[in-house]
Amino acid sequence: MTQSDDPLDALRRQYEALPYPDRDPAEEARRLVTGSPSHWPEVVHHLFAGRPPGGTLRILVAGCGTGDALTMLAQQTADAGLDVEITALDLSEASIAIARARIEARGLEARVRFMRRSLLEAPEIAAAEGGFDYIDCCGVLHHLSEPSAGFRALAEALKPRGGLGLMVYGEFGRTGVYEMQEALRALIPGDAAPVDRAAAARAVLDHLPETNRLRCNPLIKDHLDSDAGLFDLLLHSSDRAYRADTLMAEMEGAGLRHVCWIDPLRYDPALYLPEGQARDRAAALPPAGRAALAEALAGNMRKHIAYAVRADRPDDPRARMTPEAVPVFRDAATMRTFHAMPEGAPSLPITIDGLSLHLPLPGEAAPLLRAIDGKRGLEKIRKQLPDRPDKATFKRRFEAVFQPLNGFSKLFLRR
Ligand SMILES: C[S@@+](CC[C@H](N)C(=O)[O-])C[C@H]1O[C@@H](n2cnc3c(N)ncnc32)[C@H](O)[C@@H]1O
Repeated sequence: MTQSDDPLDALRRQYEALPYPDRDPAEEARRLVTGSPSHWPEVVHHLFAGRPPGGTLRILVAGCGTGDALTMLAQQTADAGLDVEITALDLSEASIAIARARIEARGLEARVRFMRRSLLEAPEIAAAEGGFDYIDCCGVLHHLSEPSAGFRALAEALKPRGGLGLMVYGEFGRTGVYEMQEALRALIPGDAAPVDRAAAARAVLDHLPETNRLRCNPLIKDHLDSDAGLFDLLLHSSDRAYRADTLMAEMEGAGLRHVCWIDPLRYDPALYLPEGQARDRAAALPPAGRAALAEALAGNMRKHIAYAVRADRPDDPRARMTPEAVPVFRDAATMRTFHAMPEGAPSLPITIDGLSLHLPLPGEAAPLLRAIDGKRGLEKIRKQLPDRPDKATFKRRFEAVFQPLNGFSKLFLRR
């Protein structure tokens, strides 16, 4: 195979010319970019039963790009006082340089080592360390010429009780993307320099009729932000989208067990169905069928975010509602929002990818939410509530609050 025939080489050339996403390390002084997968309280809840394993945590960021998940993981695990060794892999030296500068801007360089390697080599990198406790792979697997090989490599690199957080593109939410990719392939020579191709594509996009399906899709905005975003979305040499059930089958084929989606409730078809027969039929479907149905009904899933563990692991890795479990909000801003919830305002407003929902909360939600401070366990919270509910009443009330809040990744449990 000549160098230009090698699919990894085409990927490397793109990301050397246009590191993605477009980031300025100077911005680290002002804000931390956060998101899923790999938001640390979310990982601890869904993969480590509320408490990360002791000792040095080994983390792999497979395809770190310019460092969004890497920087978040390095910072959040440092804030949590954890001893971690993070390995960040990418094919692109230019992307690694930006990620490294972001890590250095935060003084976190002792926690991270960078390698210009393919994630397909993850098993051999892992072998030298006894495997990884956590692997992040966000927005990479769908770009591989053989994604199954990538899924398998990551599964093999996990410790027996390790976990994986991944993001791949979803099909229906990307309506309009694939026909525009095809049109641009016909119009713009693939051998031109990436920046020239991006400029030529922008000229075409600026003239699109208002009926064009990409223009009609309000969920897709990456191409509007930067050349790197435009190239990644519309001129990529290799890109496929998954439906939820195909993704679950892909994971299973790689020796992984799907633990949950983010956000979990979005994948419950009941959210989009009237009460009655339709909901009952949906509830009777197997998990992959339910997720696929939810995806078809919602129509707005641009990407799928999932957590997984090795298929040979027998237990459920998610945290449980024990009396000692400590509920923690996603972050300080989320805590402020919920602490400010007025009495008798029992609904949770959610706007996500164009969908606005009002999820019902129990009438007594406000004092319960105010009692959640990320320090007190459930039993202490129960005793502190103004009406001192008995254990069974408290359990029902907490479940009714936890289900929608955890279902939209606002609230987690820690041990
Ligand atoms: C769309 S970017 C995503 C970057 C980052 N994970 C994020 O979510 O911001 C994809 C990145 O994966 C890298 N990549 C693609 N194939 C790879 C492979 N086989 N091994 C390692 N990195 C790869 C690219 O160089 C690029 O930086």
